[in-house]
Parts: sequence; C-alpha cells; structure tokens
Amino acid sequence: MMNGKRIVLGVTGGIAAYKSPDLVRRLVEQGAEVQVVMTAGARQFVTPMTFQAVSGRPVRSDLWDSAAEAAMGHIELARWADLILIAPATADFMAHLAHGLADDLLATVCLASAAPVAVAPAMNRQMWANEATQANVALLRSRGVHVLGPDSGSQACGETGEGRMVEPLALAAAAMALFPVQGPLSGKRVLLTAGPTRECIDPVRFITNRSSGKMGYAVAQAARELGAEVVLVSGPVNLCTPPGIRRVDVETAAQMHAAVQAEVATADIFIATAAVADYRPANPAGLKIKKVSDSLEVHMERTVDILLAVAQRSPRPFVVGFAAETNDVEMHARAKLERKNLDLIAANEVGDCKVFDQDDNALVLLWRDGGRLELGAGSKALLARRLMAFIVGRYQAQR
Ligand code: CTP
Repeated sequence: MMNGKRIVLGVTGGIAAYKSPDLVRRLVEQGAEVQVVMTAGARQFVTPMTFQAVSGRPVRSDLWDSAAEAAMGHIELARWADLILIAPATADFMAHLAHGLADDLLATVCLASAAPVAVAPAMNRQMWANEATQANVALLRSRGVHVLGPDSGSQACGETGEGRMVEPLALAAAAMALFPVQGPLSGKRVLLTAGPTRECIDPVRFITNRSSGKMGYAVAQAARELGAEVVLVSGPVNLCTPPGIRRVDVETAAQMHAAVQAEVATADIFIATAAVADYRPANPAGLKIKKVSDSLEVHMERTVDILLAVAQRSPRPFVVGFAAETNDVEMHARAKLERKNLDLIAANEVGDCKVFDQDDNALVLLWRDGGRLELGAGSKALLARRLMAFIVGRYQAQR
C-alpha cells in the first residue's frame, strides 16, 4: 500500500492518455494522493474534468495560471511529490526531459524536483525504435529515471509492435514498487551481475553463451523485496527490469567489470550470477572477416574474473558466487568457493536442457568449513527468495 504517498501524475499528449484516468483510480486504491499535471497535448485527448473527478483535485497544466500558482506554486508542487510518474510519456516529452527543457509546467516540475521520476512510454513502434528516442531513453535511464515498459502488442495506429503503455493495474504496481520497501535489507545496497556477455570476433559476430539472465533477475527482485537498494549489471537479455531496480546494461566482460568497479565501493552484498566469458578474441577484426580460407583460428585471451576481483577488495562486500557445472557439481563448486575466497557459493547442474533459459532450477549452497544446504528444486523465483533469505542470515551473522 502507498498510504499517503504523494504522486504527481504527468499526462502527456498520446492516445494512451485515455487510460490514465484508470491509472489514477488504481493509484488512489493503493492509498496514494494523486495530483495530475497535464500538458497542452494531453488536453487534446482527455479533459481535465475527468482527472479532477477521479483524483479529487483540480488538474494543473499551465505554468502561467496565477490563481493555481498562488495556491501551490510549481516549486512547491515539485517539493510536494514523493514520486513523479509520467504516463503516458510521449517521445517528445522524453526528449524534453532528457535535455533539461522547462518550457511547460510538467517539464518544470520534473526539473525542479528531487523526487524519483518514472516514465511509462507510449507511442507508435517506429517512434519508439527511433534512434533519437532510444538515445533519450538511455540517457534518462543513466540518470536514474525509471522506465516502465513499454509493452508490445496492437497499437492505436493499427500497427503491432513495441510501444504500448503498460496497463494501468501493472503500472500502479510498478509505481508502488519504486517506494522504499521496509525489510531486513532496508538501507543496504545489493549489487548483482546477470545474463551472458558478448565478446566480439569482428563487427558482426560475437561469442556468447546460453545464459538467459532469469536466475539473476529473480535474485535481484528477491533482494528488492527484502528492502535493499538493488543495482543490476546486466548482459544482453530478453527480460523486463523488475520494478524498483536500477539496471546498468553492458555487453562485454570488460564492460561488466567496469560497471561493477563503478558500483562496488558502496555495495554491502555482491552476487555474481552472470555467465561471464572466461576468454575473448584477443584481436577482434576491425572489418568483417571474409571466408577466404578453409579454416579459421581465433586466438583467445582471458577476461578479468569479476567475482575474484571483488572478493580481493579490502574492505569488501559479502561476496556470493554461482557455479554452473555439468559434472561433479559440489566438488567443483567448493573448489571455486575456496579459490575465489567467497562467503557463499550457489551451485547448480547445467547441460542436457537443464537450467539455461528454464524457469526451474535446483540449488545447493556451500560455504567455508564444510557448510552445505540444499535449497531443493523449484521455480527460479522461489529459489531466489530462499537464497536471499539465507544470504541475509549469513550477512547479519558475519557483522
Ligand atoms: N565470474 C566472474 N567473472 C568472470 C568469470 C566468472 O565474475 N570472468 C563469476 C560468475 O558470475 C560466477 C562464478 O564466477 O559467479 C563462476 O564462474 P566460472 O566461470 O564457472 O568459474 P571459474 O573459476 O572460471 O571455473 P571453471 O574452472 O569452470 O572455468
């Protein structure tokens, strides 16, 4: 529940604005107070009266409305907000936000507020895919703006693709998840790696692996549910970011290492679930390799072991590794635990259609001095919660 949480709901001029009154109702149902701010474009789609009726507050939309400004100025409004949610967020509005423009009330409130900002993009699929839009979204993400969606499916323009606004019920849930959760990890930072990496052979080819990222994303979500501030450094995966989590996208092992280095100093717990390439082509070709010979040799060199590098820091976070093995699972996992000097390792058996891209898994936890616990088999979501509960216990006992 969002009891008493104050949300400025920015509505911008897209056809999905017809769903925003429903979103207001869902947020109010969750106990939030909602102040709607409409752009001029939004008023072409829905009337302010509709929003006033569902939110119980007069709608704001004009920076130059002296009566409204006298009641609650735009700076007060910016301070009032616990969260600014823009739904729908048009390509144009995100461009404004990315470039710091303040040419209407909503853009000004966003710029003047210290509250977290979330956008729910909604637009034609081509507009969403446009490089300019994608660059703006990446910029917003890098500044900590939460990007909720978009979904894909049939669009009001008659096309089908990515660009639909997330449905109001799911959006309200995602917005709720952005507020700090009270739990045993409140005030703690958990840093995770997840997914595969890609190592370039030439500009069009790369070496990767079968990791889907599902286990890592489930662990990230479980950590968040326990109240942690979660940063997820992710290789290329086909998964939505769990609500309330900051995701840093990377491709190569070197980029993953750099992203971890940038975040690890303030992390309390580090969990390496990523399937990082152990080797990468030593001299990736600058141009596409042509098939001019009967065979081809690609010379490979070692990548940095990110987990080992974190474990060697001093001071260091509580360090958890994963071991994916095809045989002698526990023996190999225990050797890794010792060699990398980990606090805990989660071992699973892979291969023969096991684990990779599956929704289920089976984990055994090992720690030093012969510690061992079977988490059993189950969905990755269930195992992730059990794993996080166990990590919390060990982490607290160690301090
Ligand atoms: N890992 C990492 N950086 C790497 C390689 C691995 O952070 N460059 C992490 C993984 O995220 C995982 C753990 O190390 O948590 C296990 O990795 P793995 O490659 O299986 O370990 P190795 O010690 O390389 O073992 P092997 O002998 O199987 O290659």
